[in-house]
Amino acid sequence: MRVLGIETSCDETAAAIVDEHGEVHANVVASQVREHAPYGGVVPELASRAHLRAFVPVLERALEEGGTPDAVAVTAGPGLVGALLVGTEAAKAFAFARGLPIVGVNHLDGHLLAAHLRLPGACPQPPFPFIALLVSGGHTALYRVTAPLERELLGQTRDDAAGEAFDKAAKLLKLGYPGGPIVDRLAATGDPSAVELPRPMLHRRDDDFSFSGLKTAVARHVKAHAPFDDAALADLCASFQAAIVEVLAKKAVRACVREGVPRLVLGGGVAANRGLRARAATLAEEANVELFVPPLAACTDNAAMIAYAGTMAYARGDEGPFQVYSRDPGRVRGRFRQDGSLIAPKR
Ligand code: KG4
Ligand code: ZN
Repeated sequence: MRVLGIETSCDETAAAIVDEHGEVHANVVASQVREHAPYGGVVPELASRAHLRAFVPVLERALEEGGTPDAVAVTAGPGLVGALLVGTEAAKAFAFARGLPIVGVNHLDGHLLAAHLRLPGACPQPPFPFIALLVSGGHTALYRVTAPLERELLGQTRDDAAGEAFDKAAKLLKLGYPGGPIVDRLAATGDPSAVELPRPMLHRRDDDFSFSGLKTAVARHVKAHAPFDDAALADLCASFQAAIVEVLAKKAVRACVREGVPRLVLGGGVAANRGLRARAATLAEEANVELFVPPLAACTDNAAMIAYAGTMAYARGDEGPFQVYSRDPGRVRGRFRQDGSLIAPKR
């Protein structure tokens, strides 16, 4: 079964065609980074308008490359409501015109299944269950993923997402947007022990995170020591990245050990971070945990992961009407039906 996936939840307009084995027949992503860069972050109304402009060309290219799909899957949330509406309405119109079934997919389920995509540089497909560390611009959470589309939230950030922390620190240092990749690059030449920064929530036993204090610590350091020469800037980036990475990697591996699930999957834009990949690899090996890291194109927002999650939704019999839901599942343990309502866990 070939599923057309459509993703417009944030600042990427994407369409892809994927089958139930994770083979990717088309994968088109149009980024809006240039539109939002002058503002140092995603401007929701600009995002909606850019999706409107980009959608048809992106869809046409996906269909040209991937052929005719058998069904449609679209990100129904969470995300920016205006941006989501462009994708869901366009997807419904396309499905109606072609007489195809349509299903709504939760964006987070897409990220959690991205390691299953057979893209160049893909890791082996992780067997279920696995622990997933989802780290992006909007989310930082640990999940226990028991089957495709079945996940239990173990813990999440209480304030900023990890990607948001990278972006805010980069903004403080006037490095540009998005900040994560820039900090990652500068950190490679810096000394991670040069600036002493906190390791928030590291010693707590739960799976929660907090990154807003780290941002404040960077702001204080900037106030006291700016301006920086190149070496001092690299040292600060390296120290900041090391603090975030240490907390993420340690707590993720610890969750694997505690849950008795020796498999860790990384997902989301921050999983592109070289420091995180390296540290997670070291800690996972020490704890006898197998690490699965998707290639960069599968980590950042894309429609292939939505299409693949769609194939799993059809496999279990989901189909039909859905609501756009923008709220994150929050601290609730359980999973969502395709209409956005909560299925309470059996505990
Ligand atoms: O998953 P994603 O593309 O979009 C969301 O769903 O949020 O993640 C984007 C986030 C941004 O905050 C960006 O700064 C961060 O991922 N990011 C990185 C790196 N590449 C992207 N953060 C740290 N290091 C990177 N190499
Ligand atoms: Zn995302």
